[in-house]
Amino acid sequence: MYDLLKKIMFQLQPETAHEIAELGLRLTGNYAPALFSPFASTFFVSDARLEQHLLGTTFHNPVGLGAGFDKNATMLKGLTALGFGHIEFGTITPKAQPGNPKPRLFRFPKEESVQNAMGFNNEGLVKVKKRLTSLYPFATPLGANIGKNKTTTPEDALEDYRLLIEGLKDVCDFMVVNVSSPNTPGLRDLQNEAFISELFTMATALTRKPILLKISPDMEMDAALSLCECAINHGAHGIVATNTTTEYALLQGAQSFGGLSGRVLSEKSAAFFKPLAEAFFGKTVLISVGGISSADEAYERILEGASLVQIYSAFIFQGPSLNKRINEGILARMNQDGFHHIQEAIGARR
Ligand SMILES: Cc1cc2nc3c(=O)[nH]c(=O)nc-3n(C[C@H](O)[C@H](O)[C@H](O)COP(=O)(O)O)c2cc1C
Repeated sequence: MYDLLKKIMFQLQPETAHEIAELGLRLTGNYAPALFSPFASTFFVSDARLEQHLLGTTFHNPVGLGAGFDKNATMLKGLTALGFGHIEFGTITPKAQPGNPKPRLFRFPKEESVQNAMGFNNEGLVKVKKRLTSLYPFATPLGANIGKNKTTTPEDALEDYRLLIEGLKDVCDFMVVNVSSPNTPGLRDLQNEAFISELFTMATALTRKPILLKISPDMEMDAALSLCECAINHGAHGIVATNTTTEYALLQGAQSFGGLSGRVLSEKSAAFFKPLAEAFFGKTVLISVGGISSADEAYERILEGASLVQIYSAFIFQGPSLNKRINEGILARMNQDGFHHIQEAIGARR
């Protein structure tokens, strides 16, 4: 069925297709949630062997949706029915903003890859918080991805994150600090130890809700390791690796702006994750994201040390059956390796 839907959707501009999917999932969630039941029983994998108590909540399966698909937390019910074990919504900024000029989203079907320069288009803190207030606590864990507004100066960036943490701490299970998107000018410059130590010191004084750091795969590894260590020492509960890459040579025909994701990011993201896991497995929660499109890849990242994985681009190309395939594939591989619970598989290589 997804093949047919995909044929139609892929005739449309990527952003138009996304808007139609958003409308369908949002309206069904609001007005006919019962329609989701058959989907949930088809796609959602809930198995005691995959269940984890982590970040102060319960994850029924380890496969989540990466940030940027549900920018405004409007599709949470539908996305849960499609099988995601957690959803990272956002990026949310303090003020609503339109994002970058269009076109800003490009698909590469042959390469199962995406290029985006969205620029944190979102409805802003107040509106999204209001929506979440009536939903939270929610059936599956919710992560709030937070970022600064485009017009906020570097000097005022900390205040943006303060507003977001203060505003969202009671309507999500965990938060993810985004200083790694390539689409907000100057944002990646905040990936420095002075800012990150100040931010997490402030954050831990504001809330006990877990807050993680999401990083870019384009950082020098030594700098990335130091930055993650600094974040952890100042109270970060985990690392989400990675965001999209600006290494445009990875994809023939790529634009010279925005970030690449999907299959072309897979090798780079996996290679980036490995030394991070070597350094931090057992010390903090690791979430691996970037080019995961199969159970084998998800399982590899789990063996390396990821407690959770996330997908985004592969979901667009393969549809919701991917969630089920990945979860069932992980169970099959655990079986082969003699693991009775996912916790035995996580970091088994370490
Ligand atoms: C269209 C699009 C929009 C995205 N928006 C965000 C965002 O707002 N915040 C964020 O942290 N990551 C964002 N991402 C990055 C994803 O969360 C993820 O880190 C990246 O796409 C790598 O995963 P994938 O290869 O499975 O897509 C976006 C990705 C895409 C494709």
